[in-house]
Amino acid sequence: MNTLINRLLVIATMLVACSCSGDEANAQPATDTGKTLVVYYSFTNNVRTIVGELTKQITADVVEVQPAEEGLDYAANNYAIGSSLIAGIRNNPDDPASYPAIKDVAVDLTKYDNIIVATPLWWSQMAAPMQSFLFHNGAQMAGKRVALIVSSASSNISSTVADARRLLPEAEWAGEALWINNNNRSRTATLVAEWLATQDFQTATHTMNMYITISGTTQRATLAAGTAAQQLATRLQDGPVTVTLSSSGGFEIWGPLGFSLPTSNRQMTAQPGDIVLYEGSNICLFYGQNSWSYTPLGRIEGLSTDELRTFLRAGERNISVTLSLTEDATGISRATTLQGEGNTYTLDGREATAQARGVVIENGRKTIR
Ligand SMILES: Cc1cc2nc3c(=O)[nH]c(=O)nc-3n(C[C@H](O)[C@H](O)[C@H](O)COP(=O)(O)O)c2cc1C
Repeated sequence: MNTLINRLLVIATMLVACSCSGDEANAQPATDTGKTLVVYYSFTNNVRTIVGELTKQITADVVEVQPAEEGLDYAANNYAIGSSLIAGIRNNPDDPASYPAIKDVAVDLTKYDNIIVATPLWWSQMAAPMQSFLFHNGAQMAGKRVALIVSSASSNISSTVADARRLLPEAEWAGEALWINNNNRSRTATLVAEWLATQDFQTATHTMNMYITISGTTQRATLAAGTAAQQLATRLQDGPVTVTLSSSGGFEIWGPLGFSLPTSNRQMTAQPGDIVLYEGSNICLFYGQNSWSYTPLGRIEGLSTDELRTFLRAGERNISVTLSLTEDATGISRATTLQGEGNTYTLDGREATAQARGVVIENGRKTIR
């Protein structure tokens, strides 16, 4: 009987362990949390196909603009409906009544640094539903890095680019628009890759991940912006770092890192989950609050205070804590196990410098820096 109970306990433990590691595996890297948004409209699916290719190549959230009135055939009768919508906007571009109603697009634009607008061309202009979206949301896109993709049958896109500039007067353009037409459509994948490499997208360095392993459990943390966190990441590229930390003050575990990082101390109230540098060479992981002068290093994501207390072994001493850039902190250096992994490459396969911007391949995934 005892053996049976023991077996059941072992199976139950394995199931718990499996579900935890499953969550871990599903946890998206922080670059997936939506720094880049693709907004598209498509009537006959050409733009939808382009967006499908685009999102194979970069990590981005995607929203679709849809006309409020369903079932309209914009191409019927020699494009009569599309033509009159475009004429209405062209004649009165400042009048909200000129823009056809669109369905609510449930997106918080403030979350994004980069917005890629993908639209068909209608009578040389930007398709009317996308013009509606930009007319109503342009103010929220001020200061965002915006990129444009236009699909036409054959017409040149310069007037559509002009529409985008009129509707988004305060956008920061990431580069030239991508023009896909019926002559080059079959090379969409290549054209998108080449175009991405030319776009100056916003850096998302503050969303770089670090993994923390304590007693066989690994949690994801995001690294802070700043030189200290950057240098910690550089140090971790050589392999995981294991430190011995002890509980203190009822709010943290802390101890020496074994090396120094540059300080940019500021008075702050550290919150549960925060990771900070203390006096240049100590690391503190918080399960409670404390006000002091620290340099931010990062933040453990997604755990409640109770979960943090358990994970960080609150109250205990001499806790072995491993910091790593990978979820599998076995101590095996990735650089030596698999040539090239762990490095960052440009799309044409050259190793990227730390200053390289745009689309790079990082840990096998395309990422915008
Ligand atoms: C109302 C309307 C007007 C169009 N006007 C033009 C045009 O002036 N020049 C052109 O090359 N293509 C024109 N097209 C074709 C579209 O730009 C082209 O097929 C585009 O790839 C469609 O994208 P979609 O399939 O995502 O809707 C027009 C299409 C529609 C529906």
